[in-house]
Amino acid sequence: MKKICVVGSFNIDIIATVNAFPRTSETVRCNSFDLFVGGGKGANQAVALGRLGADVMMVGRLGDRFYGPEYINVLKRNNVNCDTVDVIENSYPGSAFVAVNAEGDNILFIHAGTNAMLDIGYIDANWDKISERDVFLFQLEIPLETNLYAIEKLKKLGKTIILDPAPAMNLPIEIYRFIDFITPNEVELAQISGQRITGSDDLLPAARILLDRGVGTVVAKVGKNGSYVFDRHGARFAPPTIVKAIDPTAAGDTFNAAFAFALASGKDAEQCAHFANVVAAISTLAIGAQNAMPTMQQVEEFMQRPKQSRKTQSSRQPALSALGSHENE
Ligand code: RIB
Repeated sequence: MKKICVVGSFNIDIIATVNAFPRTSETVRCNSFDLFVGGGKGANQAVALGRLGADVMMVGRLGDRFYGPEYINVLKRNNVNCDTVDVIENSYPGSAFVAVNAEGDNILFIHAGTNAMLDIGYIDANWDKISERDVFLFQLEIPLETNLYAIEKLKKLGKTIILDPAPAMNLPIEIYRFIDFITPNEVELAQISGQRITGSDDLLPAARILLDRGVGTVVAKVGKNGSYVFDRHGARFAPPTIVKAIDPTAAGDTFNAAFAFALASGKDAEQCAHFANVVAAISTLAIGAQNAMPTMQQVEEFMQRPKQSRKTQSSRQPALSALGSHENE
């Protein structure tokens, strides 16, 4: 199996559940509150990969305040190589404030903290270790110039580049030709393509714009509706895995990780999307970004269960208890 590297962010996640999101100036009571040493799109992807059994290394920066150093232990417990993670003194790590409503939808606010210090100098200082890897995952929670620098340099070495364009932002046009796989959700695809997306018919024209800019493959994540693979050969649909989601936080990160895992194991893009749909669905079965990310054994057990029993309330409980050993104390 190819060696994977995640270049990206850490966050300490504070997650509250509410009946409904507040309106402006409204105060609402939370039903629950959790603080997780486990969050940030980069580290979420690394942890999901570690749980699946990948050979994965994280490149990122933490602060020594607010649980930053504890995050190193979380990575280690989840089989993530931390040789290229450091802890910066007198600094706050990234943090995220998340609310989940009764429908299982979420809203997020993030503060960059030491994720903003993952600069080009840090990439260069760790280049020997980074360039030993084969498949790379990037997201957009570290400085854009660092992503652009690392992506171009790695692509010129023939590495495989996967970009999750989240949180969405406009990207310089020159970057697209260095990207093998881009994995937007519908909102992100609309923003980076400049197209309006109101339904699945709008995905292909938007994806074509990215393909014309030089991207190898567009993988559109449409959440509970599955995912689509668009490349020069056309479009393929990977149907959703139906579950009763409790918290979708980091389902997209889990999708990316599972996609990369399957890719590093030699699968084609459509097979990767099918596998990623399953793993991402499982990750929605508990509150928290990393809480319900499954191991490979848990994925296999889930797939053996009759489809009907995966989505009903009564059968969700055994699935949750099977996943119960992943709390990031
Ligand atoms: O994708 C989910 C993640 O986004 C959360 O863990 C939060 O930290 C934000 O980065």
